[in-house]
Amino acid sequence: MKTKIGGKELIDKAAKLLKNDEIVAFPTETVYGLGANAFSDIAVSKIFKAKGRPQDNPLIIHIAGLKMLESVAEATPEAVQLFKLFAPGPLTLILKKSERVAKSVSPLLDTVGIRIPNHKLALELIEKSGLPLAAPSANLSSRVSATSAKHVLADFDSLIPLIIDGGECEVGIESTIIDLTKDIPVLLRPGRIKPSDLLEVLPKLRIKDTDQVLIAEAPGMKYKHYAPLVECVMAQDIKSALKAYDKALNPVIIGRKNYVNQFDGKAVISLGQSLDEAEKKYFSTLREAETKYSYIILENFEGEETLAIMNRIKKSTGGKIV
Ligand code: TXA
Ligand code: MG
Repeated sequence: MKTKIGGKELIDKAAKLLKNDEIVAFPTETVYGLGANAFSDIAVSKIFKAKGRPQDNPLIIHIAGLKMLESVAEATPEAVQLFKLFAPGPLTLILKKSERVAKSVSPLLDTVGIRIPNHKLALELIEKSGLPLAAPSANLSSRVSATSAKHVLADFDSLIPLIIDGGECEVGIESTIIDLTKDIPVLLRPGRIKPSDLLEVLPKLRIKDTDQVLIAEAPGMKYKHYAPLVECVMAQDIKSALKAYDKALNPVIIGRKNYVNQFDGKAVISLGQSLDEAEKKYFSTLREAETKYSYIILENFEGEETLAIMNRIKKSTGGKIV
């Protein structure tokens, strides 16, 4: 199969493919998604096959607006309020699943994740096809997420019919996931929308650091995610980064600008000045680094507002700290 890649001009073709139970990669503000008609088990099964994704790892559904919500999940007042505040945006809500949703979207659960992505082409694609789109991140299972069409092509060339190119993803890390089906809402995956933002709406929020959880709320979190192709560690501090660097073969140090500037004469890649910039560049930088270097040393981001990036670092390094 030849994989077509292009922008807005391919939306009609993409919508047609989706209506015919084919899968299509599309941009969102977080990362690229690999989408299929959420009402069709035949279509959804193609996502699992293309990604090599374990069947019990549920998918989230992308809709174009609140009017589509009831066709896929229970529109509780809390959900509507959160979507009014944060959608379109990088927020996924876990809700009671509607009967119409294909079983394979979340086979073992009576719940489903719903999100309204903040990207013009994604919204257009959903509107044009008239379908809610089940879509995981558009990367091969256990590989890092894709934040450009080029990344998607690297993983899925010849495996999927079409990629919509919407440029580089604005946010760069996946959506914040909140489970609203529990007595106290649970933060399952941290992202750009922070607990402090959510607490403006929710009276309570339980924060579940997924790496510590044994009975996973989000079953996908059992699996090793975001793993670069080469060894990747986080350095406790500058001294240990230098020590690891000297011991390693073809290493690179990755962190914010002020951090990497401290390593004179060493191979470094800057993630930019701010935390937002670092989140945005995180996955694409890992992809770049793994093609050039054999050992990746990451800055220690430990801190208050850094839950989201620390979560991805933990997964990329498998928790390995030097
Ligand atoms: O930003 C995003 O959310 C991106 C873009 C494409 O929208 N999508 C994304 O999908 O990150 P995926 O499949 O890579 O990650 C979704 C996570 C998985 O860890 C999955 O286990 C969890 O959400 N999940 C999905 N449905 C769930 C449910 N009903 N209950 C608990 N966790 C769920
Ligand atoms: Mg993913």
